Amino acid sequence: MNFSEQISELLKKIYHEKLVARIAVDKFIRNLNINSKQRKEILDFIYDCIRFIGFVKNHDFKITKEQLDEIKNNLILDESSFVNILGFNEEISKLILDSIPIDDFSLFLERAPLTIRANMIKTTREKLLIEFENKFKKYKTITTQFSPYGLTVDSHINVRVMEKFKKGFFEIQDEASQLITFLLPIIPGNNILDICAGTGGKSLAIASHFYNSINIEAFDIDKNRLQKLAKRSKIADAKIKIIKKPKTNFYDAVLIDAPCSGLGTLRRDVDLNIRTTPRSLKKVLNLQRTIFNKAVESAKNGGYIIYVTCSFLKEENEKQVEYFLENHKNIKLINISNILTDNHFNTFIHNQFFKTSPKINGMDSFFGAVFQKTH
Ligand SMILES: C[S@@+](CC[C@H](N)C(=O)[O-])C[C@H]1O[C@@H](n2cnc3c(N)ncnc32)[C@H](O)[C@@H]1O
Repeated sequence: MNFSEQISELLKKIYHEKLVARIAVDKFIRNLNINSKQRKEILDFIYDCIRFIGFVKNHDFKITKEQLDEIKNNLILDESSFVNILGFNEEISKLILDSIPIDDFSLFLERAPLTIRANMIKTTREKLLIEFENKFKKYKTITTQFSPYGLTVDSHINVRVMEKFKKGFFEIQDEASQLITFLLPIIPGNNILDICAGTGGKSLAIASHFYNSINIEAFDIDKNRLQKLAKRSKIADAKIKIIKKPKTNFYDAVLIDAPCSGLGTLRRDVDLNIRTTPRSLKKVLNLQRTIFNKAVESAKNGGYIIYVTCSFLKEENEKQVEYFLENHKNIKLINISNILTDNHFNTFIHNQFFKTSPKINGMDSFFGAVFQKTH
């Protein structure tokens, strides 16, 4: 099999078997005997093929870079190109078009910036900036505009091999994700439950933001992820307690970083066009409702529930909020403008909610709503 045939086979597999592209592509590229420049070119090509999988599939997964460039440069976004060129499911395409302005969507077809978050328990952003500037003179490192902890780093820099990364001085984290810490109406000494803690992205950010002054309890259904969280928090010196079962009527705040379609991170998870189906969406919608019930139970009276998704779909956001309010008579919605009181954050306040998008400083698309348990 020649090289283009191998890529074609890989794309077919990713499409038909709904493989997680990142894992399948990593495995594929690892077995090739190529230099780093070739590696980058091939990766860019494969990921672009996945972004435009509808078109690639219609060409029996055999496509040249020139064909791909032509379609990219002449793309007109409408309902038909969502299905035929981008390869989204028809129903999902409609939901996307109903959720965000069509012109904004083109930004999701670009590469996301590489952003890191300074771990304030161990360092400061300023110190890290100096380190990056001295170490990588030919690349530009810039401070993020909204998160006081972020640096946008040139994607050629392999931050994972850096000693400071291995020792927990910084984490790789999108700016929008870093900002979630500002949605928490809590003060030092409070108890917070991170009910979907996963490998700890948000818990670590909270510990850093509050300089370890909050009692953070981390829960997740996936024990493997929690094991990773345990390792990361040790390295980061972050005070996070992993728990087997959340307490009832106890926490000052419960953060739900909900399992979701993830469409707001489409620039990184480019295969979501293939993997997002009405069925997968229904599954996460149900899960979000179940977890919300648990979160309300866990919060104390007067405590807060912070619901976050990395999706822009109304179904997972505004419509889900309506559902929560209808089904829980003991909660009220808090206008996010009462929490994000610093004018600096005005741009993220949409109606009563927190919203980010690649339009603002190249961030992922996040949604946040805050509720208070009244009784
Ligand atoms: C968006 S991810 C969380 C990411 C994590 N908070 C971070 O910042 O790295 C959603 C998480 O919800 C977890 N999850 C799914 N169903 C759950 C449930 N019923 N209860 C608690 N966690 C659940 C998944 O295992 C996954 O780790």
